Amino acid sequence: MSKAQATSADSAPSHNQLDTKAQAWSALFSEPMSDLVKRYTSSVFFDKRLWQADIAGSLAHAEMLAAQGIISASDHASIQRGMAQITSEIESGAFEWKLDLEDVHLNIEARLTQLVGDAGKRLHTGRSRNDQVATDVRLWLRGEIDLIGDLLKELQVSLVDVAEQNVEVILPGFTHLQVAQPVSFGHHMLAYVEMFKRDAERMADVRRRTNVLPLGSAALAGTTYPLDRERVAKTLGMVDANGSPVVCQNSLDAVSDRDFAIEFTAAASLCMVHVSRLSEELIIWMSQNFGFIKIADRFTTGSSIMPQKKNPDVPELARGKTGRVVGHLMGLITLMKGQPLAYNKDNQEDKEPLFDTVDTLKDTLRIFAEMVGGQLNPATGKKEGGITVNAQAMEQAALKGYATATDLADYLVKKGLPFRDAHETVAHAVKAATTHACDLSELPLTVLQGFHPAIEKDVYECLSLRGSLNARNTLGGTAPAQVRAQLARHRARLA
Ligand code: ARG
Repeated sequence: MSKAQATSADSAPSHNQLDTKAQAWSALFSEPMSDLVKRYTSSVFFDKRLWQADIAGSLAHAEMLAAQGIISASDHASIQRGMAQITSEIESGAFEWKLDLEDVHLNIEARLTQLVGDAGKRLHTGRSRNDQVATDVRLWLRGEIDLIGDLLKELQVSLVDVAEQNVEVILPGFTHLQVAQPVSFGHHMLAYVEMFKRDAERMADVRRRTNVLPLGSAALAGTTYPLDRERVAKTLGMVDANGSPVVCQNSLDAVSDRDFAIEFTAAASLCMVHVSRLSEELIIWMSQNFGFIKIADRFTTGSSIMPQKKNPDVPELARGKTGRVVGHLMGLITLMKGQPLAYNKDNQEDKEPLFDTVDTLKDTLRIFAEMVGGQLNPATGKKEGGITVNAQAMEQAALKGYATATDLADYLVKKGLPFRDAHETVAHAVKAATTHACDLSELPLTVLQGFHPAIEKDVYECLSLRGSLNARNTLGGTAPAQVRAQLARHRARLA
């Protein structure tokens, strides 16, 4: 604030216009804020992204004030006119955001008053920035959750597409990153579909608790004006499945609750953890030692020194950004722990972590949907450029590490051996195969019969990768028949 402004705010505050923050509170203040304090306390340069929610909330509030006879119809019309102009100013970039006016709420209100005079000053009747900001963040987040829901669906469709093309492709399934049992690559992809399905359900659940109206709680205790809060909730679409308005029922809780933001960030963190696990696998699979897959060049980068390199930067960054989102969850949850009721300025710190969580999650989901499933080519109507699967390399790898040892044990159990004895018998067979540097299926029948006389020629069926896969034909198992059943379930769900 300039010296001249400070003096005028000090001695003769303007009642016509809200130009600076000092004027938002009154003559009570005997000195202006220092520039440092202004910068420290202001939020406009990040919370201006709430402008649409702020205007929507204000319009719903004004409409209700008029319907209740608290402001006149002509004031209501002026507010609508002013807000329409502000909307176009913000959209065109002409709106002048002022640090002096602290936040998005005061900036918009000041401009409204500048445009429509006293009607603008009446907008804040029965309202406080405390219930206003809580409403804005909820409205904004509700919209973002819907976008995230769409992106989660796209990613699931991409994974289902890859799964469908690879039902019969055999991958060594790992436990402890040691070859365990053969699995269908399609089955492996569908494991991630299950994770992202749960993420989508969690988001939908968080949306229910986000879509609740704080407005009308005023600063903390409610207000003396005869507000119709349910009318505002309906206008803003804060309604339940039956269309009934959903309104915060305790004014103190309404202005101070940020559970919805924490829940959202927790759901986002878990979703990023799923992306991170997938990233880790993609990175391993595309290393030269595995060579199971390739991702399109546009998702990789080269090295400035090693000409042969193609690095999986996108999955690596996603893995890294997971730490960042989990950090935001820690930030937000810690933000709340020491706060007495009701609103405290601490809450202004909810925005940057929340905004960054939304941005990071959305970008990550978008890029993964494309990297995994490819991009639609309008000429062919098909998706192109998703991950490329090297089925042969996967199958070759599955042949190492005695992935069908459990099948041999199961074979012996079916011949009457107790499982523990069968397990021990197969351990001897694996030892022998290791000595001969061959797979179990390459041991001659006579050698196998040396381990147990019940072994017959049909053993080779169960020692083959495909036989092993087909045999796991229980609900949720990796047999192609089961994988196809799951694919159909997901397709129907995602249609
Ligand atoms: N910018 C503030 C926030 O983000 C708005 C509410 C301020 N309320 C107050 N009484 N200072 O939380």
